[in-house]
Amino acid sequence: MTQQTLIFAHRGASGTYPENTMDAYKAAAEAGADGLEVDVQLSKDGVPVLIHDETVNRTTNGEGWVKDLTYEELQTMDAGSWFHDDFSHATIPSLEELLIWLRGQSLYLNIELKTGIVHYPGIENAVIKLIKQYDLIDRVILSSFNHYSLVTVRQLHPTIETAILFMEGLYEPWDYAKTVGAQSLHCSLPVAVPKLLMAAAEADTPVRPFTVNERSHMKALFQAKCAAIMTDWPEQALQVREEI
Ligand code: G3P
Ligand code: CA
Repeated sequence: MTQQTLIFAHRGASGTYPENTMDAYKAAAEAGADGLEVDVQLSKDGVPVLIHDETVNRTTNGEGWVKDLTYEELQTMDAGSWFHDDFSHATIPSLEELLIWLRGQSLYLNIELKTGIVHYPGIENAVIKLIKQYDLIDRVILSSFNHYSLVTVRQLHPTIETAILFMEGLYEPWDYAKTVGAQSLHCSLPVAVPKLLMAAAEADTPVRPFTVNERSHMKALFQAKCAAIMTDWPEQALQVREEI
């Protein structure tokens, strides 16, 4: 990846569009984001779908656990009206739907494997299979708070980039990341202090903090030349980056 700090749209352009919908992803691309961050879970019938919560309750007009609903059932739900009436057409995208569209774009893609609170056996294989099918291995980063899942990814594929997700201060996380076969660090914003950024750079380990929504934080991270930021507001981040 380039020297310039990349801008990843967190759940798509989720500040202005309903998160994890094709509208949010397309808006991020139109704004000029460098990449997308998306959350993946498995439907009852094993289809990788893009939704943040383990239930559909907050972001659709349906109810229940994603794991208990078939892909067909999930497709009947309105995934946009909770955000604004204008988005009643929005559905829960499948990962495949996103990848098909992404092939015509130049965006990077960070897929967060949401397996942990609800365990999705086989999610790593299902996701890697699709990424290979659409020939996107070189543009994808797989991340997870569940670091066992990252070990599984590494067992299944030797080179696809993986990133540890973490919220609290880990001591020398670049060394720890290697123990689970990961190449990069996706940490919460408060963890991304200058000392960590400098030491990670020395260890040649990319850092991509989340969720960076304040202009002052964006500016500081661009000036520190961290690898990327995850933001709900890619358009604003692009403006800040241009002003640097
Ligand atoms: O991948 C970074 C970030 O998305 C992790 O937290 O809760 O927004 O999925 P969350
Ligand atoms: Ca996420």
